[in-house]
Amino acid sequence: MTVPDGGYRCSIMVSYDLAITGGRCLVGGRLVRADIFIRDGRIARIARRSLPADRAIDARDSILLPGLVDLHVHLRDGDLAHKETFATGSAACAQGGITTAVDMPNNDPPTDTIGALEGREAAAARSSRIDFLINPALPFRGGPPPDVPAFGELFCYQHGTGALLDTPPPPKSLLMFHAESDRTDEGERECLPDLLADLHRRELANPVHLCHISTAAGLDAVRANPGATCEVTPHHLLLTTRPEDPLFRVRPPLRRSHDVTALWQGVTDGTVTTIGSDHAPHSRAEKESGDPPCGIPGAPTMLPLLFTAFLRRRLPLALLARLTSENPARLLGLYPAKGALREGSFADMVVVRKEEGRIRAEDLYTMARSTPFDGHRTAGTVVATVRRGEVIYLHDHITSSGGGRNVKGLLKELRTKNA
Ligand code: DOR
Repeated sequence: MTVPDGGYRCSIMVSYDLAITGGRCLVGGRLVRADIFIRDGRIARIARRSLPADRAIDARDSILLPGLVDLHVHLRDGDLAHKETFATGSAACAQGGITTAVDMPNNDPPTDTIGALEGREAAAARSSRIDFLINPALPFRGGPPPDVPAFGELFCYQHGTGALLDTPPPPKSLLMFHAESDRTDEGERECLPDLLADLHRRELANPVHLCHISTAAGLDAVRANPGATCEVTPHHLLLTTRPEDPLFRVRPPLRRSHDVTALWQGVTDGTVTTIGSDHAPHSRAEKESGDPPCGIPGAPTMLPLLFTAFLRRRLPLALLARLTSENPARLLGLYPAKGALREGSFADMVVVRKEEGRIRAEDLYTMARSTPFDGHRTAGTVVATVRRGEVIYLHDHITSSGGGRNVKGLLKELRTKNA
């Protein structure tokens, strides 16, 4: 293009890979009308303007939240592939707006050797739609515990904390404890104070995160030990005990309304740090057997149910995002690359439309098509899930066959970039 002085001005038209336009975005803790422009897997621009992009998603009647970081899923696979695989479990996560998930080690074989850990990491890299972290167990067999971001869930009642920690893990690794007994339903009351006292005595350097706290007593124990953080689950927040129904069988067990009220208090007063799904799929045949296993496939329903509950309780969506994205990302050292809608962050986000809907078990992408939430009304639907710039879920369809990356590799890249 020529200009009056006879020179040339070259206007290079910048184009983006993906634009998500017209939505209300949770930016800096506030819902603001903005368009998000994505390039090379990152959020390149957040602006209210029309910019060219190879692809666009119309989010006019929707809300954009950071992709969920779920610290507690059981993706199974391996010899438990009849329950779930990395492919199906990651699809279930994508349906629920989860773009990063941490896999628990109680697999077959258990993730307690280098071989088992590397085998699961390779299998997940082949077929996971979402970014993943494969947690090893403690005690770790066949060598010293590896230097990993996190261990667990560590089942205190199976080994006792001595066996878990006599070979101290690397000091910066997050230790995630399943702090209850399997002998009684009062596990937290019995097990948690002893565990926390033992950890205190050991003067562990490790950050400690307590999985699925389910009782008022458990929350009080956390409040008395400010050094530990804790998680609650959607099922312990939204359901009460129904022992006769196998779909409601879970460990820790569902509680009565007194404990449910206490958990919501913990959500609003800051005692609770994360909400995790504890996605624990079992086959329909197992759940319908004479001895149904414990577990609820919570990943695909987590966000619609929590979005609905927060709206009904008039709780800010900024709090929901803090509990399901920001805080979990911080615990893994991933924030703000994950856990925030911010220029420069990974383009991990979920588009939620405010509309009446219902949970239907047959619609879920998990292999475990049985949920205690079947029929529950919702006020928000996941329209799209984007994982580092790739649309992995759109209008009820899984739109990716893989591409998820190991969080360990992402952390290494982030450290190199920020070094
Ligand atoms: O209900 C549960 N199921 N709780 C656990 O701690 C384990 C999980 C599973 O792996 O099935």
